[in-house]
Amino acid sequence: MTFTVKNNIQWVGKIDWELRKFHGDEYSTHRGSSYNSYLIQEEKTALIDTVWGPFAKEYVENLKKTIDLKNIDYVVALHGENDHSGALPELMRQIPDTPIYCTKNGVKILKGLYHQDWNFNIVKTGDTLDLGNNKTITFVEAPMLHWPDSMFAYLSSDEVLFSNDAFGQHFASEFMFNDRVDQAELFQECIKYYANILTPFSPLVIKKIKEVLGFNLPLDMICTSHGIIWRDNPAQIVEKYLEWADNYQENQVTILYDTMWDSTRIMAEQIAAGIREADDNIRVKLFNLAKTDKNDVITEIFKSKAILLGSSTINNGILVHVAALLEEIQGLKFKNKAVGAFGSYGWSGEAVKIMLERLEKSGFKIVDKGLKMIWAPDDEKMKTCKDYGKSFIDSLI
Ligand code: FEO
Repeated sequence: MTFTVKNNIQWVGKIDWELRKFHGDEYSTHRGSSYNSYLIQEEKTALIDTVWGPFAKEYVENLKKTIDLKNIDYVVALHGENDHSGALPELMRQIPDTPIYCTKNGVKILKGLYHQDWNFNIVKTGDTLDLGNNKTITFVEAPMLHWPDSMFAYLSSDEVLFSNDAFGQHFASEFMFNDRVDQAELFQECIKYYANILTPFSPLVIKKIKEVLGFNLPLDMICTSHGIIWRDNPAQIVEKYLEWADNYQENQVTILYDTMWDSTRIMAEQIAAGIREADDNIRVKLFNLAKTDKNDVITEIFKSKAILLGSSTINNGILVHVAALLEEIQGLKFKNKAVGAFGSYGWSGEAVKIMLERLEKSGFKIVDKGLKMIWAPDDEKMKTCKDYGKSFIDSLI
């Protein structure tokens, strides 16, 4: 499959309908994904990015149906990560002298991954590639959005920004344009992508978007490297990114827990009831971490103004699904979120203290000492949980 994006820009990538896990097993992709590669054929021809390695042969064979590979003048590698560079070895075997344009860090990454001394040409912000027909590619480095080598490319005259991972989503769709897909599905995948991948880099996101907006370039489309292309009001996803990067939160409290014999679950439900009684405008969501997709949970944390984390105590510690979440959120560097902790225990009861210590180190605002309870909650203890929910909400005001 190929299709025209605009004028002489063709999409030559791969839709991966089957993908359910990405970055190894780190990121769930319920709706598949795509690896978007673009061929721009003017007086000169440029190929922007390739696809993931398992599709390399298929990609190059398809590309050959569109163009004689020898007629590709420039290969542009906006980002060296495997999902976009994986087909380079297959492609470059057939056109070994064709120049590859990437950042200085891009060279290091591509050499590190593929151990090849290809014809690398290092570009920096403001460097250009003239394609003829009054069309020029201008490069804009975007380090740590989300890798050190990431960059954007802007095609003049067509007014198209090739943004690589930024503004993308893991979303397989035949339609490939934002105005043709289900908007709820699209924005769910966008916010999940932002929450799970870009959260730690939010200050850089704001800085980079302001820098690019400062160029006052007309923008007709944003061609991402995953998912759909933004052709209907592309500024809408830029505005969303500015909103999400600015310590985003909704009026939501998320309760996350794991439980051994249901006591911690009962605590979670009673705390939720207490929150609802205190303020029924707050959206309260509960998730058992052992039964819920990790990346969906991260997305819910991203949307929350506060979370409550619950774990039974086991072997003087916490349950492994809670520990895994703590590891994940430490790296994501959430800002401006309050937290409480709770859990049941039989004899030693360290879990609440352990969770709060680790959450504090991860930058969460600790609002109280948490709530731990021995054995199973009776009516009186359930009321204590409800009261805890109420006081937790009161402390947020
Ligand atoms: Fe889609 Fe960072 O690669």
